[in-house]
Amino acid sequence: MDPERTIEFEFVRATENAALNSVPWLGRGEKELADGAACDAIYGVFDLVDICGEVVIGEGQKDNAPGIFLGDHLGTWRMGAPRFQIALDPIDGTSNIAYGLPNSISVMAASEATADSPHVMRNLPTFYSEKLAYGPDVVRAIGRGMPQILLDDPISQTLVRVAEALGKRVSELVVMTLKRDRHDAFIAAVRKAGAALRLITDGDITAAVSPSLPDGGVDLYYGIGGSPEGILTAAALNALGGEMLLRMKPRDDAERAAAIAAVGEANLARVYRCSDLIWGESCIFCATGISDSTLLPGVKLVGRKAITHSILMRSRSRTVRYIRAIHDLDSKTIHLRSAQADRKL
Ligand code: FBP
Repeated sequence: MDPERTIEFEFVRATENAALNSVPWLGRGEKELADGAACDAIYGVFDLVDICGEVVIGEGQKDNAPGIFLGDHLGTWRMGAPRFQIALDPIDGTSNIAYGLPNSISVMAASEATADSPHVMRNLPTFYSEKLAYGPDVVRAIGRGMPQILLDDPISQTLVRVAEALGKRVSELVVMTLKRDRHDAFIAAVRKAGAALRLITDGDITAAVSPSLPDGGVDLYYGIGGSPEGILTAAALNALGGEMLLRMKPRDDAERAAAIAAVGEANLARVYRCSDLIWGESCIFCATGISDSTLLPGVKLVGRKAITHSILMRSRSRTVRYIRAIHDLDSKTIHLRSAQADRKL
């Protein structure tokens, strides 16, 4: 009996409902209301699902917006129900929703916590981490003897290795990063090396997962972004066979000192791989597009129908499912925590 197999579709229902409940806020400048709508829908789905879900990676560490926080419970917590550790971002790319921009998803990862392995996801104490993500072809090339890619390698060297692994020229590579001033030197170095860039305003989970998709259109992701987003990315890459190198990046001396107190100096300096961030027997990753991204199309409203696109995968089986759902808005209801009842969209 593998509880993940029976429960995984409830996770998709949760991100689908989060997308459907937040999409009315697209382009309305109301980031927090969008986030609140997504959280309400996720809580609402799990209020009807028999699991003991503990949020171990939530939004609390990142901002003050409404959210589902570290330590919160999802599910009914009925006695005997399977126990899951959960990482989630009800919306990754909340600013994108507020401005009506592409690249927002609702995303969750869950792994069964057993008596043998009660903790399965690493909680990183810093707000930001530095991340470099590449796909399975690069992992395989390293397995065949290509030198390892290191986080501190010059980007020009990394691009040569990625190009070699993918059988491309450096000039054919596509690199994605967040458009932030802190990435200016990186952006200049990529351009100097001759690769193409895709700059995104927000939402680095889709960006870091894309190199691991056959049709993601991205060969390499690099950037300093949220640490919780790094754990969610690791869940996806464990199922897709890609890899990410991640090192915590304190914002200032106070955060550095707090991180050292929490995890020690060696761990703060350590470069983690996906399997160091999520080490459970298996892990579910699912996401639903809210606005279009390289990972998933966003919600499409066509007459009285809403079409959602989700991805669902498990690291144990490495099955990747794309789920396109057509919701009839005249009959569709979703269960909301705020109403403690089903509501029409
Ligand atoms: P939220 O939508 O969850 O707030 O995160 C958006 C995001 O772009 C993440 O994808 C990324 O990791 C992080 O914010 C980057 O942080 P910052 O905007 O501070 O550079």
